[in-house]
Amino acid sequence: MYNSKIIGLGYFVPENVVTNDDLSKVMDTDDEWIQERTGIKERRHVIKGEDTTMSMGVKAAKIAIERAGIDKDDIDFIVFATLSPDYYFPGPGVMVQSDLDIKTVGALDVRNQCSGFVYGLSVADQYIKTGMYKNVLVIGSEVHSTGLDFTTRGRGVTVIFGDGAGAAILSREEDTTNGILSTHLHSEGQHAEELSLIAPGMGTRWVTDIIKENDPSDVSYYPHMNGQFVFKNAVVRFSEVIMEGLMANGLTNKDIDLLIPHQANLRISQFVQKKFGLSDKQVFNNIMRYGNTTAASIPIALTEAWEQGKIKQGDLVVLAAFGSGFTWGSVIIRW
Ligand code: UT7
Repeated sequence: MYNSKIIGLGYFVPENVVTNDDLSKVMDTDDEWIQERTGIKERRHVIKGEDTTMSMGVKAAKIAIERAGIDKDDIDFIVFATLSPDYYFPGPGVMVQSDLDIKTVGALDVRNQCSGFVYGLSVADQYIKTGMYKNVLVIGSEVHSTGLDFTTRGRGVTVIFGDGAGAAILSREEDTTNGILSTHLHSEGQHAEELSLIAPGMGTRWVTDIIKENDPSDVSYYPHMNGQFVFKNAVVRFSEVIMEGLMANGLTNKDIDLLIPHQANLRISQFVQKKFGLSDKQVFNNIMRYGNTTAASIPIALTEAWEQGKIKQGDLVVLAAFGSGFTWGSVIIRW
């Protein structure tokens, strides 16, 4: 048995900055409401035709590969987490294999929304632990902006989400006291519709039905979120799954050097910070600048934290996520 270890990180966000004031010009919202409820000041939106979920994932992956000091052909497997794939099918994993011109390794697409990167790390970790693969590329990437409702009707969701991508190279670690110590995954599908995008779907209504109905009041192809219900569940599940990860390794909150929560809402991060008695330095947040980038939020934050020298060798780094599904999970890492 081996452990897996993150040996390279990268992220990419589009240059196009969209401030709260920009949004208030197209819908009934304001900077004060958005900052007070979410902490978000601005987010990035792709320029249509310039970037996609796949292309941003590739850009982040190239940086991670270079920093890992490996060749693209050392990659044994690709995991791509997103809720906003370029195509309905196939998923973007295979496109990364082609775009990076990697040999014909397996490519897996993960559909676990805000928990997607944590689920992806967990999958990659298991392959490395068993010795099946040595180096796995894990990507989280999202384009939200092209699928949001930019009228006042959509303001409860639209102001929150942003575009971006992050990537990590996981590699074999012989010392099993180092690297990813454990991962913990959960789901509760009875709440699937509380944060969802229902159509088009093979089990509901397909694109042809939507076109035929041509109903301007139809919002089923926009994301729907029961915000307060999601918030209440998020704070409970974040706390539970962080505690579960610590306990599985005989650790306590006092052992945490850096917590990187999925950037869902700054108020959720602050609640969790308080619950675990952590200082501002022990929790990394960047939602102020990028909004909620779903599967990309943790790898972007992890990369920024690493770039800023906030992660040192031997640190205990905890990743935790909660989101649509509901799904949630944590990753406990000895850096
Ligand atoms: O990443 C996946 C997990 N996602 C989350 O964890 C998100 C969890 N939920 C949240 O972060 C919060 O629920 C939101 C930030 C989405 C919303 O905050 P809230 O405090 O729960 O607001 P609310 O939805 O209860 O809405 C309060 C009021 C409503 O007006 P009335 O009915 O009180 O008159 C909304 O219509 O705020 C109104 N509102 C807005 N006003 C200005 C909703 N969105 C906006 C907006 N600008 N963008």
